[in-house]
Amino acid sequence: MRNPILVALDVPAPDVALKLVEHLAPVVGGFKIGGELFTSAGPDIVKKIRATGVSVFLDLKFHDIPNTVAKAVASAVRLDVQMLTVHTSGGFEMMRAAEESAQQTANQAGLNAPLVLGVTVLTSSDSRTLAEIGCDSNVGKQVERLANLAVKAELRGLVCSPLEIADLREFLPSHMQLVTPGIRTGAEKADDQKRTLTPREAMAAGASWLVIGRPIYAAENPRAAVEKILESLK
Ligand code: C5P
Repeated sequence: MRNPILVALDVPAPDVALKLVEHLAPVVGGFKIGGELFTSAGPDIVKKIRATGVSVFLDLKFHDIPNTVAKAVASAVRLDVQMLTVHTSGGFEMMRAAEESAQQTANQAGLNAPLVLGVTVLTSSDSRTLAEIGCDSNVGKQVERLANLAVKAELRGLVCSPLEIADLREFLPSHMQLVTPGIRTGAEKADDQKRTLTPREAMAAGASWLVIGRPIYAAENPRAAVEKILESLK
């Protein structure tokens, strides 16, 4: 089995991120760079982490007019990242522009196109949040609608809550890759994640990749934490 663990590098300092990469690269499937690290350390940190040979998931959740998203995706492709995110609520045309840009730019640069992942409804949103923005659907229905739109736009993967995986697997084409945060092993102290699954449960439900942050980087021994998770997946 390929290693499904993507470590969320939710730290502001590039040297701390690089230390984690150095320490964990041999035992994980890749690293996620999000808004905090990217905004403080810029494309340079992406290049430095890629230069070590590990896979990078650039999680900047693009959401803009199709032309701007296409250009942002092209810039991410040139950084040679393996996964990136766009908001599915940006609509069909925006997602098509993102996917086409990923394919074309990669082709021109002689790289493999990254997996463009669609983000549906953020797990911090509930039906009240949806109502605030004029959407009278419930969260489950809205996730289904956006997931189907992502399939129509020919995205090849989605980010989802662990508790959505089983439902999504019921109707999604089997090639869709599902990337899920909200993973807790039970060993760590409680934090702001409320609806979680263990790594084993999430994989059994049909996850393709697990995004894991604090249970790894905040552990006393991050490498031992990863090894324990891998053991639990055997
Ligand atoms: O530390 P923890 O394992 O909770 O980190 C999870 C990572 O996944 C963080 O980078 C967080 O921003 C991201 N994420 C999430 N829930 C979502 C989408 C992304 O926790 N719905």
